Amino acid sequence: MTSLKWWQTAVFYQIYPRSFADGNGDGIGDFKGIIEKLDYLKDLGVDALWLSPHYPSPNWDCGYDISDYCSVAPEYGTLDDFKTFLAESHKRGIRVILDLVLNHTSDEHPWFLESKSSRDNPKADWYVWMDGTPPISEGNGGSRRGVPNNWQSCFDGDAWTYVPERGQYYYHYFMKQQPDLNWRNPEVKQAMWNVVRFWLDLGVDGFRLDAIGTIYEDPSLTPHTVPMNLAQLRRASELARTPAEKKQIEKYWYDMFKHQWGGPGLHDLMKELRAILDEYDGDRMLVGEDDDIAYMGDGGDELHLVFNFPLMRTERITPDHIRRNQKERLTRLEALPVKGWQCNTLGNHDTSRLFTRYGDRQHDSSLARLHAALVLTLKGTPFLYNGEEIGMTDLIITDPSKLRDTMATWYYHSLVNDLGVDPAEAALRAGEMSRDKNRTPMQWNNAPNGGFSPPGVQTWLPVNPNYKEGINVRDQLHNPNSLLNYYKNLLRVRRNTPALVEGEYIPLHPRAEDYFAFLRQTSAQTVLVILNFSNNKLELSFSRTAALKDKSLHLLFSSAVHSHTDLSPKSLHLGAFEVFIAEVK
Ligand code: NOJ
Repeated sequence: MTSLKWWQTAVFYQIYPRSFADGNGDGIGDFKGIIEKLDYLKDLGVDALWLSPHYPSPNWDCGYDISDYCSVAPEYGTLDDFKTFLAESHKRGIRVILDLVLNHTSDEHPWFLESKSSRDNPKADWYVWMDGTPPISEGNGGSRRGVPNNWQSCFDGDAWTYVPERGQYYYHYFMKQQPDLNWRNPEVKQAMWNVVRFWLDLGVDGFRLDAIGTIYEDPSLTPHTVPMNLAQLRRASELARTPAEKKQIEKYWYDMFKHQWGGPGLHDLMKELRAILDEYDGDRMLVGEDDDIAYMGDGGDELHLVFNFPLMRTERITPDHIRRNQKERLTRLEALPVKGWQCNTLGNHDTSRLFTRYGDRQHDSSLARLHAALVLTLKGTPFLYNGEEIGMTDLIITDPSKLRDTMATWYYHSLVNDLGVDPAEAALRAGEMSRDKNRTPMQWNNAPNGGFSPPGVQTWLPVNPNYKEGINVRDQLHNPNSLLNYYKNLLRVRRNTPALVEGEYIPLHPRAEDYFAFLRQTSAQTVLVILNFSNNKLELSFSRTAALKDKSLHLLFSSAVHSHTDLSPKSLHLGAFEVFIAEVK
């Protein structure tokens, strides 16, 4: 019996509801579709779902601009459909966490409509309002701005938008359709805690907290010192070539936003929220969209998990990168008064798909298998993103009128109109930076529309045509060598091998450049994992590793073929890109 909590042993799977399964044939995913796929998820072997926002939204930011926190987007169904989804998930032993967007609401949320209506309405102080002089358009296309300071929105230029009714500006870290709430106002807190209770009362198992770092900004509004605006910085990032240029750009990104992140107050806020969850039974949990371990408090009084984003912040996943990352993260987590637990992921709805991002265009399929094995064997809770299990790839949309990610549309117009970039080049850049590429509909079979929607229906984003080339669930279910069956097998091995879930992590051969080898060890079981990141066969010996001395290995899983399942750690032969998992006997 493990002493770990469910959120430590579970494998999470992120559902992006708009793109997961279209149950009513309107081109948009919905709860009916998700419910129909729960058996698939059970069979895949995941234990918990993270549902990206399912609330009513004008969709300027694909659901992350919420206009009603206690309801369901009509295109996804009704609250009753949600309840059915939750009950059906729980019936299958699958937990559900929701996406909770605390920093901002939609500008169509009734709270904001009231707040912006005057300076003295009851919600006048629910958002971040500042004085400034009205923007005055000048001749020749120029404009004189009266904004409170030079802060930028990370999505669409100025972080301040003027409202004539109040003669003031409101602050938005994200789009202007996403005004920041004023969390220093206790009424805001109460209103949001009511939302939290609403969903907890319905039985959800926890929340993924969106963009928590942006909740509090520097109260003195210290201006940034970067000599460019957002669009110029994005463009400069694209054009940076040398390591020195890239380093400078990285510093600019940090400097541009450092006053808008991590303002004082967040730890107390997270403690308050945690206390609410702890009132409920069932170990409800919080995972923060942040990598800062400090937001776990003492390990028991703030967030349960933060994502190990540094693992994915690299152009290539290498053994050296993994070892350094694990050492740094685990050392910090273990130093917390209540030991912290790691949370690994290699992709989500904001990032290029892992198959594309970490592929090399020659060995993509082998690399995808290595990366899946990495996330599923490292110590910590793994988060998978829908579609990665069948190797879905990015689909770059080069027609700007077809983009649905409005921050990319904004960037396209800035490139063409403000920076004079050629429209064809701008379209490509916008398509590449757009998150649409990694949000296309799930590919269920090789029928038209990939089985996501009925044939002939216009889907909300185009379906990647590679569903016809075997990148779809049905074809892969029938193919024993498919990526999907590989994930299923790996998930099964993980579930049946306690050391892979609970065991300590002990890195081996710390200087190996081609492969990453480590043990996962409990008092009852030791497992050796080797991930060969090279295209070469390897002959390895672990005769000097104390835990393996005079032992034999029993093969649990391999992506290659071994003629024997009992092997000697003194001389192991691994194939190119092999994933090797064996129990020490
Ligand atoms: C982080 C979410 O993951 C992203 O999709 C969204 O655009 C921003 N937060 C704003 O809510």
